Amino acid sequence: MTAATTTPFAVRTRETLEMLESSGQTKVLQTLDSPMDAVVKMVDPDGTTHERVCMCSNNYLGLANHPAVVDAGIEALKTYGAGTASVRFICGTFSPHHTLEQTIAEFMGTEAAYTFVSCWNATEALFPTVCEAGDIIISDELNHACIVDSMRLTPVIKKGVKKAIYKHDNLDSVKQALENAKNDPEVTGQIWLITDGVFSMEGDIADLPALRKLCDEYGALLCVDDSHGHGVMGKAGRGTHEHYNMIDENGKAQIDVFTGTLGKALGGGAGGFIAASQDLIDLIIQRGRPTLFSNALPVTVAASANAAIRTLMNEPERVEKLRDIVKYCREQIKSRTDFDVLESPTAICPIIVGDTAKAIAMSKALLNHNIFVIGFGFPVVPEGAARLRIQMSAAHTQKHVDQLVEALTKI
Ligand SMILES: Cc1ncc(COP(=O)(O)O)c(C=O)c1O
Repeated sequence: MTAATTTPFAVRTRETLEMLESSGQTKVLQTLDSPMDAVVKMVDPDGTTHERVCMCSNNYLGLANHPAVVDAGIEALKTYGAGTASVRFICGTFSPHHTLEQTIAEFMGTEAAYTFVSCWNATEALFPTVCEAGDIIISDELNHACIVDSMRLTPVIKKGVKKAIYKHDNLDSVKQALENAKNDPEVTGQIWLITDGVFSMEGDIADLPALRKLCDEYGALLCVDDSHGHGVMGKAGRGTHEHYNMIDENGKAQIDVFTGTLGKALGGGAGGFIAASQDLIDLIIQRGRPTLFSNALPVTVAASANAAIRTLMNEPERVEKLRDIVKYCREQIKSRTDFDVLESPTAICPIIVGDTAKAIAMSKALLNHNIFVIGFGFPVVPEGAARLRIQMSAAHTQKHVDQLVEALTKI
């Protein structure tokens, strides 16, 4: 047997880890010892504990530790036990799955919805299931990694599905990609266009009305991953389409397919979904590999997510509260520090610093001031575009923002 430390894998892995370490790019898994909230208790590598303002979670609405959300999970745990012990089509479908899926469809303005253990999983189910030879998937170059990987996977599972990428948020490039698809003799089936609603690293949003118009012109279906938009964008927090008033008088969204996560604003637990027409969802149930061959979303999580969305539907003012604190945060960073924060209507406030090691060093320095903000570098964002990504939550107060600004002026 080859010695474990001399295998090609062992040698190249050690080289990669040492390169990351020596260039200051190693990610440290920060440990929390309390619920996710505006302030969290953290355990440092030396074993000391610290209360820090958490400004890097996706807990946009502060629902992760909301009593109704926690209680719903506890109640479901008592009623249904710890796990489904099955995929959905065998014996893994429980009443809370149906309840949650009806709530998601109502909230999103679609005929139906179906849940997965994550949005990553949902996206991986989507294209390989709905596409057939002769179809093409057209995607924004900055779309989330789960879309990139789903697109890579699709032609492996379904030969003859084509792909095209357009320049980020560039409508000329979108039109060109659609025109190319129209004139491509190999594209004989459906054109799918997919975009993030809110782009997670920049915090900017897709021009959904213009994309809708172009999709209609070319007979394309418009798919939106609004993982950072659901719960955040629009008056009631339905998402980026609501921000653009793309909901008709019957409450129906003018988007063909949504993918989204339950692990951010909508409960913060875990889980993802596809929301679309009943037929598309039925096809996913019949043919989607991640749902046919992988366990269902745990019932406790489904119950918590349902309580989170219902809480949001009953208390839409949470979204307004989030918007107010984001505005305050942007204003304070701009007026009281030397840093510039990217402008956007979302809860993501990135400060671009360029170098990955610098972003990580700044994040470490902020920890010493009891502010928890992660520095993002390559490969999560392009080389040279490293950043501190501040994410605001409706749970934050002006005092928390003042603490952040104070710390930024000192590091
Ligand atoms: C735009 C976008 N889509 C999908 C995901 C994946 O969501 P999940 O954690 O539910 O897999 C994320 C998470 O970072 C995201 O930002």
